[in-house]
Amino acid sequence: MRDRVTMATMTDLQGKVAVVTGGAGGIGRAMGRRFGREGMKVVLADVLAGPLDEATRALADEGLDAVGVLTDVTDYSSVESLAKEALDRFGAVHVVCNNAGTGGVSEGYMWEHDLADWRWGIDVNVLGVIHGIKAFVPILLERGEGHVVNTCSGNGGFAPIARGAMGGPATAVYPMTKAAVLCLTESLYTHLEMTGTRVRAHVLFPGGFLNTGIWESWRHRPERYAATQQRRTPDQTLEKVVARFESGGARVEFTPLETVADLVVDGIRADRFWMMGPPTPADEVVSSKAASILARREPNYLVDVLGRHAENARETEGGKP
Ligand SMILES: NC(=O)c1ccc[n+]([C@@H]2O[C@H](COP(=O)([O-])OP(=O)(O)OC[C@H]3O[C@@H](n4cnc5c(N)ncnc54)[C@H](O)[C@@H]3O)[C@@H](O)[C@H]2O)c1
Repeated sequence: MRDRVTMATMTDLQGKVAVVTGGAGGIGRAMGRRFGREGMKVVLADVLAGPLDEATRALADEGLDAVGVLTDVTDYSSVESLAKEALDRFGAVHVVCNNAGTGGVSEGYMWEHDLADWRWGIDVNVLGVIHGIKAFVPILLERGEGHVVNTCSGNGGFAPIARGAMGGPATAVYPMTKAAVLCLTESLYTHLEMTGTRVRAHVLFPGGFLNTGIWESWRHRPERYAATQQRRTPDQTLEKVVARFESGGARVEFTPLETVADLVVDGIRADRFWMMGPPTPADEVVSSKAASILARREPNYLVDVLGRHAENARETEGGKP
């Protein structure tokens, strides 16, 4: 591969423009605030009008330059409109965070998952990122610089969590979509490199235990993806997840969302593809997976949400034994 174009790093964020999808809540909102505090102009995009207004107002109340644009990332024309509104409002785009996401709502084994769950997860978590790339990368390329940050997850980005927070089989939808996010961000990185541009691709692994809406995505399930199967088990709540962790002997401590936002800003400045915190024991799944592939061994590296081997301890919650 030819030499990398140097001086790609955007160290001075002052006055630059950031667009964050899923910006009404959790990680997206934290990134938006951090960008604003760096002196950037911020476009928060989200499908939830009320939380989006509230998040945008909170930034404005802090004296930050922010605008909210109602956007559905599953709809390409909506993402195109977002790009147009960002340009109309601020005249440029420098950083795009494809962060909107929906969590695992499926129950049971994967062959029992509702097809509507698959469609919803794929449309938001995968197509949503593809839409962001298609709408924004040409704008960044035209400027000759910029950063695309795609939010991934160790759950899928490394390997799927096999057993879920509620004890039964974990959703297969969510990790599949996050594996796709990693793969397409790697492709994006390579394609950008081939063009010789200074536009950069990054993949964000938020890490830690985060107090966000993703645990209860079912609360905002769009009509278009309405469930077609009767649920057998109660919907997951963060409260129940915490209780389960604690009963499993885990100490529950939420990682501040500001820490995730720091990873992003530091990663942009350092031009870091892998936006990750310091190594943790959970990273070991990467080396054990690589070892399994290289040795053509069984994929016995899969763990449950507490990091224990998924094949141990038969449980019946959330699915038949
Ligand atoms: N919370 C975690 O532990 C964790 C860990 C790893 C990765 N992530 C990822 O981080 C990202 C942000 O999630 P979060 O944890 O902040 O959860 P969150 O639910 O608080 O935020 C996700 C946001 O995306 C928005 N959204 C959903 N569908 C959308 C659509 N069609 N169009 C536009 N916006 C839409 C939601 O309304 C919400 O505001 C997601 O991609 C998630 O998969 C989260």
